[in-house]
Amino acid sequence: MAEITIQNLVKTYPGQTERATDDVSLHVDDGEFMVLLGPSGCGKTTLLRMVAGLELPDAGSVHIGGRDVTYLPPNKRNLSMVFQSYAVFPHRRVRHNIGFGLAMAKVPKAEIEKKVAWAADLLQLGPYLDRYPAQLSGGQRQRVAVARAIVMDADVLLMDEPLSNLDALLRLGFRAELKRIVEQIGTTTLYVTHDQVEALSLGDRIAVMRTGQVAQLGRPIEVYDHPSDTFVGGFIGSPPMNFLDAMAHGGVDGGVDGGTITVGDAKLPAPGGLPDGPVRLGIRAEAISVVDAHTEGAVPAMVDVVEPLGAATLLTVRVGEQEVKVQVPPDVNVRNGQTVHLSLTPRAMRLYDAETGLGLDLR
Ligand SMILES: Nc1ncnc2c1ncn2[C@@H]1O[C@H](COP(=O)(O)OP(=O)(O)OP(=O)(O)O)[C@@H](O)[C@H]1O
Ligand SMILES: [Mg+2]
Repeated sequence: MAEITIQNLVKTYPGQTERATDDVSLHVDDGEFMVLLGPSGCGKTTLLRMVAGLELPDAGSVHIGGRDVTYLPPNKRNLSMVFQSYAVFPHRRVRHNIGFGLAMAKVPKAEIEKKVAWAADLLQLGPYLDRYPAQLSGGQRQRVAVARAIVMDADVLLMDEPLSNLDALLRLGFRAELKRIVEQIGTTTLYVTHDQVEALSLGDRIAVMRTGQVAQLGRPIEVYDHPSDTFVGGFIGSPPMNFLDAMAHGGVDGGVDGGTITVGDAKLPAPGGLPDGPVRLGIRAEAISVVDAHTEGAVPAMVDVVEPLGAATLLTVRVGEQEVKVQVPPDVNVRNGQTVHLSLTPRAMRLYDAETGLGLDLR
């Protein structure tokens, strides 16, 4: 068993006033792949380093497999890591870099060779096994660091942006490989990234972080479909979720037969029981379609930019003063400057408090 339990971790670096992690609690199940996702500086690396034992918290605790490891040194935690600044030993060949941890653990030579070959194959490092790190590209060096970590059979695998130096194609291929490897070896994994696509693709669950705190924790589809606040909705998804200023009318006695949301001149049906007043209406680009002008509830908009992306076309339109992204099929014929009518899929609409940006719970 190697679940990770993080409780109320607080860390302020010396000389800083802001907390790098601000009372973070998080439970990672045995064998789970948990992604820490968030913008630069939100505390992802700090949290990972406290789990690793490279940084000590001011308060709180870390348990791995039920054991309190908060103040244990890294080598007493049975974990293996890939750092954001991937350190490889410059004076050792690639094969010795990959097998380093195994050699330290006195694993028999034949087994080391087998594992090194397996990892090198997986990470397409076969041709470089006898080179020194200085003779590799940045992406190749990073893959050496990943290979070194995955050969270790540790209880817990910690990875801090391990794909950041790979080119787009390699990254895509490696992402799928990594998913397969981790499912195969079933190691509990804590994985840091600021790439939301990577997070959605890899994570069993995602912890979205903001300024040292977990803003939302959930399965990728939950986080994508039901962002808990406008920050999460704006961070996850490409393009990010649209947020429109709207007016809510709660309906008769706040009854179940529904209220309305007014966006510009258009009145849309909405769940009953809403407080009357301004709200932020969140909706994803793919949940908006271009419809005939006479469609009920259609919102008029002016097309600003048309971007064909191959599989779909992305429109940037204006609803009054507000900019909205709309994803339409590639064969939809629209031009700049044209007026179109938008239909918003009712079940994809999310409502947020106009001031705090927090989700209004309507489910
Ligand atoms: N050694 C340090 N001394 C002082 N402040 C630090 C130190 N390391 C990090 N910080 C600060 O703590 C906060 C969190 O940093 P952290 O490295 O955890 O962010 P991150 O989420 O990993 O960001 P990135 O995506 O850029 O790697 C930041 O405000 C950062 O400036
Ligand atoms: Mg970092």
